[in-house]
Amino acid sequence: MRHLLDTKTLSRADAIRILDVAEDMADTQGREVRKLPTLRGRTVVNLFFEDSTRTRISFEAAAKRLSADVINFSAKGSSVSKGESLQDTAQTLQAMNADAVVVRHGASGAPRTLATSGWIDAGVVNAGDGMHEHPTQALLDAFTMRRRRYGAESRGRDLAGYRVAIVGDILHSRVARSNVWLLDALGAEVTLVAPPTLLPQDVSAWPATVRYSIDEAIAEAPDALMMLRIQLERMNAAFFPSSREYTRWWGLDPVRLAALPSDTIVMHPGPMNRGLEICAEAADSPRATVREQVANGVSVRMAVLYLLLAGERNTPTNEEDR
Ligand code: NCD
Repeated sequence: MRHLLDTKTLSRADAIRILDVAEDMADTQGREVRKLPTLRGRTVVNLFFEDSTRTRISFEAAAKRLSADVINFSAKGSSVSKGESLQDTAQTLQAMNADAVVVRHGASGAPRTLATSGWIDAGVVNAGDGMHEHPTQALLDAFTMRRRRYGAESRGRDLAGYRVAIVGDILHSRVARSNVWLLDALGAEVTLVAPPTLLPQDVSAWPATVRYSIDEAIAEAPDALMMLRIQLERMNAAFFPSSREYTRWWGLDPVRLAALPSDTIVMHPGPMNRGLEICAEAADSPRATVREQVANGVSVRMAVLYLLLAGERNTPTNEEDR
């Protein structure tokens, strides 16, 4: 694997390989010494043109636990036009001998430009580009679903027959897009649940069913209910009458929470708008996987960096095992 730009072009075999390596990484994270020597001497640059809490620190933790050197480059607020600043920045990174660049950018396609422009030799990981994709988020979501379903028997498995309802602001969500493609590759069944104003105009080419009612989706007893954040920063118009109205019709409130089958998990990529798309009772309930998703994110990103930079050359070992 040279880059990770999307899940749309990720095969079932590649996806399972990443999830399985992430299982190995998760095993090492339970040990007393969590640091692996695997990427010693390598440089990973976190290049963030957009705000991030979880994703940036997760990549940083992942790179550090593999002993890579990490440079955090927060480019937010730059007034240079996007294309130009990306090229300039890329050339700086090239001069610093970056081995991997983890990029988050407001423009869809920026990571691909970086990977294919010839400006840099580094492997590129997409950490969220505009409304396009966020592949490591989808991978950590799939990892979380697989673990909740198969526990210690997860390795080698896909998500055939697993039913996932993704609810909320699908239109602006790169998380939804990456999840739709990955879940399809893994054999899961996806239902998109949103008001018509928060769905892309034409989702007929997406491997998913559309529902306009969260109550209908809940009545279908999904295995996972994934609540998405209302992305107010990407909204330049009124997509729903008021937040109270949104919560009333689309939010996961205590009544809907109680209507879910007992083994349905509630997911959210974070950051959550408590009281808007998800109530506190749901966010803090044992069926919520929000904190697990964050923890699993580190293992998944370790796996991705490992596969990108160390390839198949060696299997993960712990310092104390050597
Ligand atoms: C997501 C993102 O930035 O796309 N957050 C994340 O990476 N955990 C989703 C969001 O911002 O709502």
